[in-house]
Amino acid sequence: MSKTALITGITGQDGSYLAELLLGEGYRVVGMTRRTSTDVHERIQHIVDDIEFVSGDLLDQTSITTIVDNVRPDEVYNLAAQSFVPTSWSQPVLTGEFTALGVTRVLEAIRAVDPKIKFYQASSSEMFGKVVEVPQRETTSFYPRSPYGVAKVYGHWITVNYRESYDMFAVSGILFNHESERRGKEFVTRKITDGVARIKLGLERELRLGNLEAQRDWGFAGDYVRAMWLMLQQNEPDDYVIATGRTHSVREFVRIAFEAAGLGAYEPYVVQDPRFMRPAEVDLLVGDPSKAKRVLGWEPEVSFEQLVEMMVRADIDRLAPQVRA
Ligand code: NAP
Ligand code: GDD
Repeated sequence: MSKTALITGITGQDGSYLAELLLGEGYRVVGMTRRTSTDVHERIQHIVDDIEFVSGDLLDQTSITTIVDNVRPDEVYNLAAQSFVPTSWSQPVLTGEFTALGVTRVLEAIRAVDPKIKFYQASSSEMFGKVVEVPQRETTSFYPRSPYGVAKVYGHWITVNYRESYDMFAVSGILFNHESERRGKEFVTRKITDGVARIKLGLERELRLGNLEAQRDWGFAGDYVRAMWLMLQQNEPDDYVIATGRTHSVREFVRIAFEAAGLGAYEPYVVQDPRFMRPAEVDLLVGDPSKAKRVLGWEPEVSFEQLVEMMVRADIDRLAPQVRA
């Protein structure tokens, strides 16, 4: 009997990779999408016929409960969120509704329909914020620095609370930044690789960025969704840090991306623009993935340098036909 997985946020970066992985494992994959007036299936176009879609919204309890009741999944992966940190300052209440209370709505739906359904919550290294310990591990205290980070702390603790209150198999994956050619262009890595590709092809002359000194523990999204799945295959529910254990600055990412495109030094092209600075910054993130390695047998397979090169190559290949046309 194949298992059924329900994924919220299936149209996002992680949703697309997770859907691929679960289909490969023989799952029936059901994706919850919200109603939009345009097509948002770009990232899953290649597997769209293999997925069942159901319409629902993290803001709407009735839709989520009805979906869980109809679909009767074995596993629910709650990836949907307002996930862009700067937007959380301009839309703090909405971010709280999606990213914090949305988690409770999904948990409540599971509790009402069948508390045996396994639940994965997409928690974030943003919860560590102004870090109190280096590297950050499962026991490190949280100090979020944005309304998004605060909302994710709520999502984390409500997941732990439902596990402890109702004996549910509910886990929180504390994932550090993970990227790919499917990353939204507003996030810094994809903004850089898209910008580098445009400069390389003569479509742009400069790249405007904010804080180049921020440091992140960047991995490849395809590696990270494997960790999500592994967490739900364990005998006991628990929380895990998923990271590479290495950190790099935005400046290093920029330097390697320009070199990968054969453009040489980045300095002539990069302009620091105060519009992209944040009211409160997360200066340094670096995770300790040793528990994930020990218990889940999980390790990242793509290195930082491979990731940057992969993303630059994908953006050049995507844009080149437009230039030739
Ligand atoms: P993403 O690309 O921004 O995707 C977010 C998804 O959430 C999209 O499918 C979006 O649907 C959906 N969504 C947003 N609001 C919704 C609502 N009200 N109802 C239903 N669906 C809604 O994010 P991602 O990078 O894949 O990240 C997945 C999850 O992991 C997020 O919760 C994020 O906060 C968390 N996370 C990400 C990282 C990372 O580095 N990527 C690290 C730690 C944690 P539309 O297509 O309709 O907009
Ligand atoms: N977006 C963006 N744009 N960030 C910039 C820019 C710019 O022009 N210039 C510098 N940065 C810096 C930001 O200030 C931040 O320190 C760093 O680059 C990374 O920013 P993002 O790529 O936007 O990601 P994030 O770290 O804020 O959040 C991502 O990772 C979290 C996990 O730690 C998102 O995916 C979150 O949803 C996720 O939880």
